[in-house]
Amino acid sequence: MPGVAVIGLQWGDEGKGKASAYLARGASLAVRFNGGANAGHTVTLDDRSLSLHMLPAASVSTRKAAIGPGVYLDLEELFRDLERLEKVLGRVEVTISPRAHLVTPLQKKLDAKLEEARGGAAIGTTMRGIGPTAIHKYGRLGLRLCDVLEPELLSSILDVWARLWGDLVKVEEEDVLAVIRGLAERARPLVGDVSKLIRAQLETGGTVVFEGAQGTMLDIDYGTYPFVTSSHTVSPAAALGSGVGLRSIDRVIGVSKAYTTRVGSGPFPTELKGEVADALRERGGEYGATTGRPRRIGWLDLPQLRYACQLNDVDAIFLTRIDTLSGQSRVSICKDYEGVEGFYPETVQRLWKVRPRFVELEGWPLIEEDERRVLRREGYGALHGNARRFVELIEDELGAPVKYIGIGPRVDDVIEK
Ligand code: GDP
Ligand code: IMO
Ligand code: MG
Repeated sequence: MPGVAVIGLQWGDEGKGKASAYLARGASLAVRFNGGANAGHTVTLDDRSLSLHMLPAASVSTRKAAIGPGVYLDLEELFRDLERLEKVLGRVEVTISPRAHLVTPLQKKLDAKLEEARGGAAIGTTMRGIGPTAIHKYGRLGLRLCDVLEPELLSSILDVWARLWGDLVKVEEEDVLAVIRGLAERARPLVGDVSKLIRAQLETGGTVVFEGAQGTMLDIDYGTYPFVTSSHTVSPAAALGSGVGLRSIDRVIGVSKAYTTRVGSGPFPTELKGEVADALRERGGEYGATTGRPRRIGWLDLPQLRYACQLNDVDAIFLTRIDTLSGQSRVSICKDYEGVEGFYPETVQRLWKVRPRFVELEGWPLIEEDERRVLRREGYGALHGNARRFVELIEDELGAPVKYIGIGPRVDDVIEK
């Protein structure tokens, strides 16, 4: 499968980093095409865990990474990622599109200002400057990496920013300018033609993993607007954000947890409060990889996943954390929302009010290290019958095969069905 897009089907943190690293074993290139340092993709290799924000986590498998023009580029975070990654892996080759828009301290300050202005309707952003970088990009006031590398362009854009945002820009203008220039100069040797690089890999039979950030329900057009991020998170973005055509994406792997989580505000139909949520959060270490915030927890939501599978043209599902959900006497799945048929509700006002209807299934025994070892060796057949029933119900209801099942945090904690 030469061009593989790995897409989050829920509200982010589905385990895209781990899934991408698994799917990229033997691949030649890993690509980030959307989002920015709001992403936190954790990969666990043996006993070491790394959370990457700008580089694709699949680079642990490929050692060759690209950042497409669709990414909001935070150079400080990029170099931080690269240092951490190279400490573990040795040299990692990175190519960055010069067209990527930069996130600067101004956009981060504006992120905080906008959240403050929203008051009770705050989104709960990651404060990584994503919304304001999108405002600049689509307002045609953005600063791309290639613009910083050309001094006249840089100062004319900064003049516009100063007229627009006044003191917010002025305060540390000189300082910030020097930092941005310094970072861009450091990035200069990494600048290259990402679309050409991807095409070259695909034409010579290589596999390229396009590692999505965030999840379908955070997509700017298809998510729970306005409680979304400021980019496209659905599968067509893999092509658009990396500079290749749609035919370069051969397969779409949708990643979903065996339950649901969400960080930040906004409707969450199957959200749980109380003991089960607390137990899952503690067992699964469900705290944000970027902000450390506790993740909200809920049961798996089939209407939501049906919507996501359709939007993304999902070929197969990578179901993570069947182990985190183990050890429960019973588990629930939302089969539908009472009285809602056809379209997935398009306003948050409607979504806040939906009433999910659940089916209850019997749980399966705790999956810990000993069981993982057996499962890795013996595969799907060794999974407890109740867990298999859970997986097969999901396949039946979504009309897509669950091809990969996560049984633990490590990259090779996966069974294939
Ligand atoms: P991403 O943003 O989609 O890449 O997901 P995150 O890295 O933010 O959060 C997913 C977390 O779940 C990470 O800590 C992963 O190591 C972990 N994880 C992924 N798959 C599994 C799994 O099958 N079992 C367990 N226990 N943890 C998993
Ligand atoms: P990964 O790639 C989970 C959420 C924020 C907030 C909303 C808008 O790790 O799955 P933003 O900073 O983008 O303006 O915040 O989107 N959010 C994420 N939630 N995982 C992510 O990325 C997220 N990136 C943004 O919590 O609700
Ligand atoms: Mg994450």
